[in-house]
Amino acid sequence: MKFYITTPIYYVNDIPHIGHAYTTVAADVMARYKRLCDYQVFFLTGTDEHGQKVDKAARDRGLKPKEHADLMVENFKKLWKKLNISNDAFIRTTDKEHIKTVQGLLQKLFDEGKIEKRSYSGWYCVPDERFWTEKEIMGGNCPDCGRPVEHIEEENYFFLMSKYQEDLKEYIEKNPKYILPETRKNEVLGFLKNNKLGDLCISRPKQRLSWGIPLPFDENYVTYVWFDALVNYYSATKYRAPTDVDWWPADLHLVGKDILTTHSVYWSAMLLALKKELPKTIFAHGWWTVEGSKMSKSFGNVVDPLAVVNEYGVDQFRYFLLREFPFGLDGNFSIRLLKERINGELANDLGNLLSRTLALVIKNKRPGFPENITAKVEKDEFIEFIRVREFPEFTVKFSNSFKSFMDHGLKLNHTILYIMDAVKKMNIYIDKRSPWGEKDSDMLSYTLYTLLEGLRIIAVYLFPFIPESAQKIWDALGIDKKIEHCKLDEEVIWGKGSFDSMKIQKGRQLFPRVEEKMEIGDKVTATVTESTVAAEERQLISIDEFAKVDLRVGEIKQAEKIEKSKKLLKLKVDIGTEERQVVAGIAEHYTPEELIGKKIVLVANLKPAKLMGTESHGMVLAAGGDGRLVLIGFDGEVKLGSKVK
Ligand code: MSP
Repeated sequence: MKFYITTPIYYVNDIPHIGHAYTTVAADVMARYKRLCDYQVFFLTGTDEHGQKVDKAARDRGLKPKEHADLMVENFKKLWKKLNISNDAFIRTTDKEHIKTVQGLLQKLFDEGKIEKRSYSGWYCVPDERFWTEKEIMGGNCPDCGRPVEHIEEENYFFLMSKYQEDLKEYIEKNPKYILPETRKNEVLGFLKNNKLGDLCISRPKQRLSWGIPLPFDENYVTYVWFDALVNYYSATKYRAPTDVDWWPADLHLVGKDILTTHSVYWSAMLLALKKELPKTIFAHGWWTVEGSKMSKSFGNVVDPLAVVNEYGVDQFRYFLLREFPFGLDGNFSIRLLKERINGELANDLGNLLSRTLALVIKNKRPGFPENITAKVEKDEFIEFIRVREFPEFTVKFSNSFKSFMDHGLKLNHTILYIMDAVKKMNIYIDKRSPWGEKDSDMLSYTLYTLLEGLRIIAVYLFPFIPESAQKIWDALGIDKKIEHCKLDEEVIWGKGSFDSMKIQKGRQLFPRVEEKMEIGDKVTATVTESTVAAEERQLISIDEFAKVDLRVGEIKQAEKIEKSKKLLKLKVDIGTEERQVVAGIAEHYTPEELIGKKIVLVANLKPAKLMGTESHGMVLAAGGDGRLVLIGFDGEVKLGSKVK
């Protein structure tokens, strides 16, 4: 079975931003998922290089448009490589094969009388490169972008799009999956029902704009950039795709909501006129705002995906893009949210699950312990029954739901939450089983098998979203196969995994916690006592008063949960001269294991107190707000017991 998926082709007038990355990562997730489902996939992306916008950008830099495009295209290619985008081809509309295809299709429509020359007068928006009627413009401005429009009178060629209004309406009504999400389909249908569709001006006189594909039937004109651009989806199948399959029609065009009309109306009408099949689905996703505002160059808030990835990591960024809000709706980008997801879900939930599991296996590598931890340890039917009851995540039903979320309506964020819920349950499972002191060797093997096997399967489900990290999970589990060469249905079967405990290695942390830099407004709080509240109120103190506080560098040597408390951990802290027992309210933010070895700041001269029956001799400092807490640490090497000044 084949699956042909496309992204929009991006204008080369500027460098890529988060919006471009969003569509491309989403398309990559779908392409990887379909490959896992044994489809032969053709995943296309590329660049839109003709037209006024690119021409202007080139002029501004004193370059010829093609020279400018040649430079700019590299930014996209570089970013896709960095983001692990697995596109099978990259099309540029300046490719000569594409140009030939566009000209061939134009000639065909012209010969069939579906393109006509007419004199035209109307209002033109230069940045949007489109005409508006007198009725449509708003106070002399473009109704779309709000910028001033120019009055233009000239002869042009028109594609007789209006003829296809009825056919289009009928097609959309009969094919409920043609435009998704459904709300977008209703918008397009509403538009087609309540307005008369005009004809589409598909030429620009050369004297006004020469940077475009020459019309094959009139050398004084070039092709309108959207006619040229939309054809890319078809032309690429003729010269960029493997030839053993007939790739047209595309299965999925992913686009942003702003370019849904050009795809669902212009492109569909063009295909109807050309008597070619329509794509199976056009899916319009929402837009990102940044820290609550529209993203725009003039606001100076354009998010550069490369910079984010360099600072926070590829999979962290991919995860955040698709996890944050439902695909199809609008959402908000903020570094604070990104850090929260990284530290909360990736480091705390997934990363810790892996490191706790690996630590357990490594700790138990000993004579007599099974070298190969396999499903055989599940000999007891009762145990198998418990697994299915505790982890429905690892049954066929889960895999069917996973596929249905992915295939029907691209519920990408829902799918991530569904998988991460299984991760959370596995962490609870470790706590419940508490295998650290397990004496029964069979029970221990069974628990370890459950954890290893669960992680093996979860990595397969997560692979389309975070491919590099999912593979790292398999590598850490000692599985020498590449997930990308596997088939989902064969891999998500419980009991298939068998683990060689000798090959299991604790490597580097999968998702290091990111430093939650103090942001303005974050409060520095001590972690436990009531006096925290008072400290938050801004009271001024003298330097002498401050000097009374004895702050010391300490290292956490031991950490454990305090029974019946969700928040408290009992710590043993080495402060150079002695070891202190301290109770800290950080259990919701750190697991005991990850605290071991951390250097912290301790208030060393606090009166001892009893918390939940446990004595505390000092207080650990942490910073936070919005429900999170980060321990205060050090930028370089410091000696234990040093005074913090
Ligand atoms: N060249 C045309 C597409 C032609 S397809 C035959 C084009 N290019 S673009 O570079 O301007 O935009 C490409 C995509 O970026 C669009 O799908 C658009 O929706 C998306 N985005 C631009 N800003 C965005 C956000 N702030 N958020 C999410 N996506 C956004 O249009």
